[in-house]
Amino acid sequence: MDGIVVLISGRGSNLAAICKNGLASQIKCVISNKAAALGLNIAKEYNIPTEVIDHKLYNDRTEFDQALAKIIDKHNPKLVVLAGFMRILSPYFVKHYLNRLINIHPSLLPSFVGINAQEQAISEKVKVSGATVHFVTEQLDHGPIIAQGVVKILPNDTPDILSQRILEIEHTIYPFAISKILKNHTKIIDQKYVEVIYDENDNSILGKYQSQIYY
Ligand code: GAR
Repeated sequence: MDGIVVLISGRGSNLAAICKNGLASQIKCVISNKAAALGLNIAKEYNIPTEVIDHKLYNDRTEFDQALAKIIDKHNPKLVVLAGFMRILSPYFVKHYLNRLINIHPSLLPSFVGINAQEQAISEKVKVSGATVHFVTEQLDHGPIIAQGVVKILPNDTPDILSQRILEIEHTIYPFAISKILKNHTKIIDQKYVEVIYDENDNSILGKYQSQIYY
């Protein structure tokens, strides 16, 4: 097993960040459940193979997930990366990729799971929010946390403005977490938390966000 397969549903700004941060050659395929997903164009720019699999053509979630897994498994990836893949995954899929499936979510989990995480953070009047990269388990937006990036919430933030600032940090934290996993610099303990092995390049990769990212 080597490399990654990335699953998207939309614009693919995280996919673009993963490519820009030196990981394009590790991506074996980008798969979307929507033919119109803009992220597919990003994959094409990098000459990465793409596939579209429309969930509406399947009777139920498990049937779709089985078909999706068949496509992914052709590439035998070390890691499956959810990058704005807006589908709830079946227990079948999560078990099939246990410890090989990661997600990014725009909040400091376990706070604000599900959709509109940025809006939830603003309406709860929390002082900070951010982004979390985690291994996927059967519970929605839960699972061993690999890294988190913190963003301060400002008085005039709207969900859109906050989303934009969180996205900037997502674009650093996701490539960082993926490269740590590909380098075998992560270890899942008791299926509960992740030990990330520090190396001296970490801070230069995290760049201007190094004081906001925790792992
Ligand atoms: C990102 O903000 C990501 O955190 C979020 O969708 C956006 C995708 O943007 N994912 C979730 O909310 C998953 N629960 P992108 O398509 O530009 O990468």
